Amino acid sequence: MASLAPTLSCTISRLNLLAELSHNHHRTIRFFRTLSSKSRPQKSFYPRRSFKSSFSSANFESTSSICSKALGSNPVFNDNLVVLGIETSCDDTAAAVVRSNGEILSQVVSSQADLLARYGGVAPKMAEEAHSQVIDQVVQDALDNANLTEADLSAVAVTIGPGLSLCLRVGVQKARKIAASYQLPIVGVHHMEAHALIARLCERDLQFPFMALLISGGHNLLVLAHDLGHYLQLGTTIDDAIGEAYDKTAKWLGLDLRRSGGAAIEELARRGDAESINLSVPMKQHKDCNFSYAGLKTQVRLAIESKNIDAGIPFSSASIEEQGLRADIAASFQRVAVLHLEERCERAIQWALEIEPSIKHLVVSGGVASNQYVRARLHEVVAKNSLQLVCPPPSLCTDNGVMIAWTGIENFRLGRFDPPPPAIEPEDCQVDLRPRWPLGEEYGRGRSVARSMRTARIHPSLTSLTQASRH
Ligand code: KG4
Ligand code: ZN
Repeated sequence: MASLAPTLSCTISRLNLLAELSHNHHRTIRFFRTLSSKSRPQKSFYPRRSFKSSFSSANFESTSSICSKALGSNPVFNDNLVVLGIETSCDDTAAAVVRSNGEILSQVVSSQADLLARYGGVAPKMAEEAHSQVIDQVVQDALDNANLTEADLSAVAVTIGPGLSLCLRVGVQKARKIAASYQLPIVGVHHMEAHALIARLCERDLQFPFMALLISGGHNLLVLAHDLGHYLQLGTTIDDAIGEAYDKTAKWLGLDLRRSGGAAIEELARRGDAESINLSVPMKQHKDCNFSYAGLKTQVRLAIESKNIDAGIPFSSASIEEQGLRADIAASFQRVAVLHLEERCERAIQWALEIEPSIKHLVVSGGVASNQYVRARLHEVVAKNSLQLVCPPPSLCTDNGVMIAWTGIENFRLGRFDPPPPAIEPEDCQVDLRPRWPLGEEYGRGRSVARSMRTARIHPSLTSLTQASRH
């Protein structure tokens, strides 16, 4: 039992649900004060995208369906916190400082695009190393760009799952170090909740309940968001997420993966004929809201093979004729991949409105939601159903620290945070990481036939069959 003590003292949990902030907590929380002035941000030695802006900045595009700029009367904006958000769940090292009135004081992202391009995917050990190399600088830049020091913060928010545990650990350890040194409360954030809640920073009319389609490299989720921390899962992927299908298609078409496979396909698809390659829409026969992209990936791979396209030859070195062929495949893939989203969203909207007739919004977020074609097609779907589409700007759809800081603020307001970690933590301190962490409970009608078929197809192991036959 003795070994439990350090473990417990080191956990970050926002499941310590304090009903309200107690008087004591109020005293320990550092509210936003006069900001200290700081010298110019230091020069950075890593590839990064850096933003310093509030919503009026030109760095963020805004359209009627994207961000409403006015942040004011909504009660959730009426306090004065300033929170640092840290995100390292996958391949981007990100940090941001956000004020509880919705103002983004800084946003810094260091991407591992070169590693991704070299290895064609995320290699956890290398991703961990890359995070470790840049985390200090990314956080320092976020503070510098905000003209703040750690002492000005009200709290630190950090992604604790889902994601790669090696990578999550880097961010969590950094957050704990800051929180311990400056006696700051700490909020452990669910990465997918953050993708959904960032829409509430962008769109002030977005109240619970709302629907969310969260589409990224590792997740394909359709949820009904009842309330903060309360989600009903209407659908999920039974195999791959759409972002994974975009990334593989880009790799097999020999595209430059340094921005992202998805962005490369989006661009190439504009040049192709989306009707030219015959690909079937996944899961037509399953009348639920689940997704599958593994089969579509196979269809694309077979189409590429049948056209004798060699991914070893980069797109730029291919003949004009072959470039055209590759564009046709990209466009056809994108049309069918997004049609699958459209069909599932149509059904999910019907289900959600039966459960919560007051729903007015569908949030679409996660890296793939930065795709303009995806946005346009889903806009049609929601308009048909008299709902409103809310898409954060692309820089807030892909992984970022703003969404973590913002989700930290939302949870912090409800008292969902942990006290500062002890100043000295044991070397073998086990932090609370949640690499596999579902967002919500599964809706009964949403249980997929395909999923149970898939389970049925799994053979019991030789060992278990042998053991069973011995009894
Ligand atoms: O949310 P995200 O940044 O990281 C994860 O949590 O996975 O999503 C990354 C995914 C990648 O698969 C990437 O190819 C995809 O988002 N993505 C796009 C676009 N930009 C990024 N997919 C389609 N079109 C885009 N423009
Ligand atoms: Zn993500």
